[in-house]
Amino acid sequence: MSEKESVETSEAQIAVHWQEEEYYYPSAKFIAQANMTDETIYERFSLDNFPNCYKEYADLLEWYEYWHTILDTSDAPCWKWFVGGKVNASYNCVDRHLKDYKNKTAIHFVPELENEKTEHITYQELYVRVNEFAAILRDFAGLKKGDRVTLHMPMCAELPITMLACARLGIIHSEVFGGFSGRACADRIVDSQSRVLITMDAYYRSGKLLDHKQNADIALKLAEEDGQVVDKVLVWQRYAGKDSSPTPMVENRDYFVNDLLKDYYGARVDPVPIPAEDPLFLMYTSGTTGKPKGCQHSTGGYLAYATGTSKYILDIHPEDVYWCMADIGWITGHSYIVYGPLSLGASTIIYEGVPTYPDAGRAWRIAQDLDVNIFHTAPTAIRALRKIGPDEPAKYDYHFKHMTTVGEPIEPEVWKWYHKEVGKGEAIIVDTWWQTETGGFLCSTMPALTPMKPGSAGPALPGIHPVIYDEEGDVLEAGSGKAGNICIQNPWPGAFQTIWGDRDRFVSTYYERYNTDPNSKDWRDWPYLTGDAAVQAEDGYYRILGRIDDVINVSGHRLGTKEIESAALVCAEVAEAAVVPVNHDIKGKEPDLYIALKPGIDASDELAKKISDTVCDEIGKIAKPKGVWLVADMPKTRSGKIMRRVLASISNDKDVGDVTTLANPEIVTEIQEMMKKK
Ligand code: PRX
Repeated sequence: MSEKESVETSEAQIAVHWQEEEYYYPSAKFIAQANMTDETIYERFSLDNFPNCYKEYADLLEWYEYWHTILDTSDAPCWKWFVGGKVNASYNCVDRHLKDYKNKTAIHFVPELENEKTEHITYQELYVRVNEFAAILRDFAGLKKGDRVTLHMPMCAELPITMLACARLGIIHSEVFGGFSGRACADRIVDSQSRVLITMDAYYRSGKLLDHKQNADIALKLAEEDGQVVDKVLVWQRYAGKDSSPTPMVENRDYFVNDLLKDYYGARVDPVPIPAEDPLFLMYTSGTTGKPKGCQHSTGGYLAYATGTSKYILDIHPEDVYWCMADIGWITGHSYIVYGPLSLGASTIIYEGVPTYPDAGRAWRIAQDLDVNIFHTAPTAIRALRKIGPDEPAKYDYHFKHMTTVGEPIEPEVWKWYHKEVGKGEAIIVDTWWQTETGGFLCSTMPALTPMKPGSAGPALPGIHPVIYDEEGDVLEAGSGKAGNICIQNPWPGAFQTIWGDRDRFVSTYYERYNTDPNSKDWRDWPYLTGDAAVQAEDGYYRILGRIDDVINVSGHRLGTKEIESAALVCAEVAEAAVVPVNHDIKGKEPDLYIALKPGIDASDELAKKISDTVCDEIGKIAKPKGVWLVADMPKTRSGKIMRRVLASISNDKDVGDVTTLANPEIVTEIQEMMKKK
């Protein structure tokens, strides 16, 4: 037995086999221009200075009325930040920049078709368009502060315009990812009790003009069946003045925004001073079970946190050109395409389509043409770009100073490609760990202060104080290298306030687990359960191992799925790897390994064996996959996450459930057929 195999782990401990990597250091050039070079920030944001440290973030905003209480815990664990303060998110993201930057581009909208012109919207123009649309919301749609409105919009400049118009009036927006179905939209309309839907007629994806308006009709019908009537649908047009959808408009219900605007040219709507703790938006997220949860984010706390973290972690300066490739339909887009960058007066890019359309060089052409210097994306996109065009970045003349990765653990191999090829060895990388619920980053290196370590999110952000518990509820020693459930000890301003309409579920899902006194009003008694497994190395860096339920227990050894996937990626032929647990009578679970190969590489039994052997070599025989399945593609969500749940159902011969919302539902049947033949 090798040494690796003989390592025994207790039930409470997840075996961690992924080796620690070497540090990478930021360049002197980067440090010289960084927004935060003062190491005392960690001291200033230490627990001793909590919660007053967050005044620094609040002071990045302009307030109508300054707050009197930084943190009110009287309704624990529903924390209230900056109580007594009045603020407006639309004012902070638009109006306040007019003085210095009115002629500067706020939003570059890049259409997917390369022969269409990029739209450059200045802060002045953004101001005009937000005001005019706010007037429509108030005077035509009859919406007011506190009302919820559902947005089902693709990536377009009109989406932030709509969000900021809502924020101007204190209307709570709930954006549903554009790629979601009418059913998903209906569920969110019903849960948030929206009586207005804002949508778009059509948009491009992979070169096709998709009919999006049809989803609105489906959503309204289903919502009505569930008791929520929408009386107005405001439809933006992909081509202003032209109807691009074959789905007819319904009289006295559907209205083209461009037609309405004619009556509102030149309209101005004063931003409404909003109490800091009033909601800014809802963002629905799926849990492991049950219906999606409407995460309710506050106005003052959220905006302060999105602004502060954009400034110090993304290192955004007003003159930077910043491109985050995420979709605004997810929290990343809300915090780090719209609210954070615009609050800092940056130029933010909105790209309509897929980064690999029409070819693997597209993303880098956009970077070159717009002179992007801050780039933000997810491991899944990095893997895709590496798979189809590993040599493409070198062909283009762009220079990133800073790059982000977010959304899932990144394998060190992929991190190194990102650094060397995409970042041309010049850019620093931040691996930012956070969640829809948390509003902004929780762990990341501070770009000019702490070195990078591939595969590690890094230390906690200043002001965030994680703690790792084992299954018994005991705290693991800091830096122990043992894995457990990572929680955050203290509240922070970006944290969501509750689940819309379901406080009990909010408390039971996120705060009950390690709380010892349900009546306590002391934040120290309410650690926030992230639901992720993590390990803290001696240097204080956290490595996120994935969701707690992503952990596979083989013969009492608990293996992080990510570790096995990362081991498979060591084989040069492998583009993507996904591990799922298969039930086994004796071992409990066994890992089943799905692999997508790089283009031009043929699947063979020899190659499958080589991958299996590599996993055993890297981790130990304990991780030997039951099967290595070489598939044409992974089933993915529209946001690009691999649907391990679907693969697990296939592996365990279970019903895969509804796969219609996937980006590529056809691949599911293809994999099922393939497995039957084996
Ligand atoms: O498991 C963690 C993973 O994504 C989850 C949150 O997903 P969502 O709410 O959709 O938000 C995605 C964008 C913030 C987390 O619980 N995750 C997110 N970022 C990372 C990550 N896992 C590892 N490393 C990250 N940088």
